[in-house]
Amino acid sequence: MFIDKTVVVGISGSIAAYKAAELVSRLKKMHARVRVCMTKAAEEFITPLTLQSLSQNSVACDMFLPAGKWEIGHVSLAAAADIMVIAPATANIIGKIACGIADDIVTSTAMATKAKIVIAPAMNINMYENEVVQENIEKLKKRGIIIVEPESGRLACGTFGKGRLAEIDDIIESIYEGLLYEKDLIGKRVLVTAGPTREKIDDIRFITNHSSGKMGYAVAREAKRRGAAVTLVSGKVSLAPIKGVETIYVDTAQQMYNTVIGRADDNDIIVKAAAVGDFKVKNTFTGKAKKENIKTLELERNPDILFELGKTKKYALIGFCMETEELEMYASQKLKEKNPDFIVANDLIMEGAGFATDTNIVKILHQSGEIEDLPIMSKSDLANEILDRAKILLK
Ligand code: C5P
Repeated sequence: MFIDKTVVVGISGSIAAYKAAELVSRLKKMHARVRVCMTKAAEEFITPLTLQSLSQNSVACDMFLPAGKWEIGHVSLAAAADIMVIAPATANIIGKIACGIADDIVTSTAMATKAKIVIAPAMNINMYENEVVQENIEKLKKRGIIIVEPESGRLACGTFGKGRLAEIDDIIESIYEGLLYEKDLIGKRVLVTAGPTREKIDDIRFITNHSSGKMGYAVAREAKRRGAAVTLVSGKVSLAPIKGVETIYVDTAQQMYNTVIGRADDNDIIVKAAAVGDFKVKNTFTGKAKKENIKTLELERNPDILFELGKTKKYALIGFCMETEELEMYASQKLKEKNPDFIVANDLIMEGAGFATDTNIVKILHQSGEIEDLPIMSKSDLANEILDRAKILLK
């Protein structure tokens, strides 16, 4: 994941400094080259030896090296960095960086580097809420520094509140975004639907389909990584929610319809990746119906969300379809009928395509008549291909 990338980890003197060991270890497992620098206060909480062993590199603690060493610590670290992450960052170090003070190895590396910087604050709640700390954080954000918000919970000082170092997973996600993503969708709103819908038979049973939600979640995650404000309207899936994406869970096609139509016009891009049930049950039962009583299910059509969205289309609109035969013919029929800007068509019987896989093989059919055949790729890569094409359509 981080092959050939150098991540400089700066550690400052918060009790959460011990968690930097886990961060360094995880980054190494992801194949990053890791170089650690730490303040004197950080050394009170965790030893350089621990970090040296985990990073398999010497650890910089001093600005001033003994005679005979020609390398200037902060300058060489700053130059080597593809990205710098300061975790944990105290109120003190945040204040210094915000004000341009560079009086230790961490702040001077931050000052000298041209690489992106990620800062994960960790401190007592009163310190975190202090106006000057908040102002400093805002200053850093304005300068393009990525802040990984602290979590709420029990703090080392025994109080409860916001100030605990963010989860290591979230810090790694921010490093990943900072390293690999252009924020080309900043200021754009993207709405994505994902997963299956459920249609009630009685209070116990329902009709659904095999959709895993993986494709829609990949689009939502990639759009968020590219800087968009993302709303995900999701059926019941077993995927973890995506931090930073507003997720609205729905059951039925009608609920999905109401949620999507109510918000559609606020968006720049709408991607309809959900597998919406075409039918709902007319003669539903209350409680658990006795099997003898369920003889015939009467079905009626659900509203078609994509068709409704295609009528006005104040946004770039992307539909999906899945077929087991005559893919191109059915996809172009849907493209005409439902009127999305383009439709992403996948053949359910091809190996590597479809519901539960992590890859997909699709054709993209455009209103211009152009048909693209994309090779097999991960759902994340396909999500970016879709967003690239949607971006061109933005008004
Ligand atoms: O007709 P079909 O279900 O194959 O069309 C698939 C596309 O239409 C998908 O983008 C799906 O999200 C959307 N759809 C919808 N409302 C429905 C049925 C499908 O928005 N009731």
